[in-house]
Amino acid sequence: MAAVTVLLVLVLAAVAAPPATAASGDKETHIKLYWHDVVSGPSPTAVQVARAAVTNTSKSFFGAVVVIDDALTEGPDLNSSKLLGRAQGTYISAGKDEVSLLMNMNFVFEAGKYNGSTVSIMGRNKVFSDVREMAVVGGTGVFRLARGYAQARTHTLDMKTGDATVEYNLFIKH
Ligand SMILES: *[C@@H]1O[C@H](CO)[C@@H](O)[C@H](O)[C@H]1NC(C)=O
Ligand SMILES: *[C@@H]1O[C@H](CO)[C@@H](O)[C@H](O)[C@H]1NC(C)=O
Repeated sequence: MAAVTVLLVLVLAAVAAPPATAASGDKETHIKLYWHDVVSGPSPTAVQVARAAVTNTSKSFFGAVVVIDDALTEGPDLNSSKLLGRAQGTYISAGKDEVSLLMNMNFVFEAGKYNGSTVSIMGRNKVFSDVREMAVVGGTGVFRLARGYAQARTHTLDMKTGDATVEYNLFIKH
């Protein structure tokens, strides 16, 4: 009888215990990819949807709101590199006297081992600094309960068109 009780307790404990992989913070993942902000041409992936009514804000674009659906690729060349997903969200020019953006975007993976998962990034992007650090505030799929940080480095910026390619390194615990 006692043996049966012990067995029952063990079975119940096994059922109740969450699988080891469900705990957050077990894994650390580093992802390097390139983010392409295309503002020019017939098919831009970054569109300005609002701007400040006052006209003396042009130096830092203070008050501009841009919606993005930017390609994320494995290598720096948008045309030939493998498409990994999209960066969907907004950035807002939040610096009155300097070009400083508030980034608010989801990296939506559409290929490779992270296909179907997302990473949410929010943070300050002072675009003319060499390295800009932003927070990884969450995620879905394999990135559930994610936390971490992203580092952005400008790879190319076409001053004529405004098109930019930025290297992103994500360091994620999930
Ligand atoms: C990528 O393709 C576009 C459109 O075909 C072209 O205008 C652009 O010069 C190409 N960029 C590179 C780096 O090859
Ligand atoms: C990504 O996943 C979707 C949904 O499961 C699937 O339809 C698609 O083919 C996958 N893409 C790649 C490149 O594996």
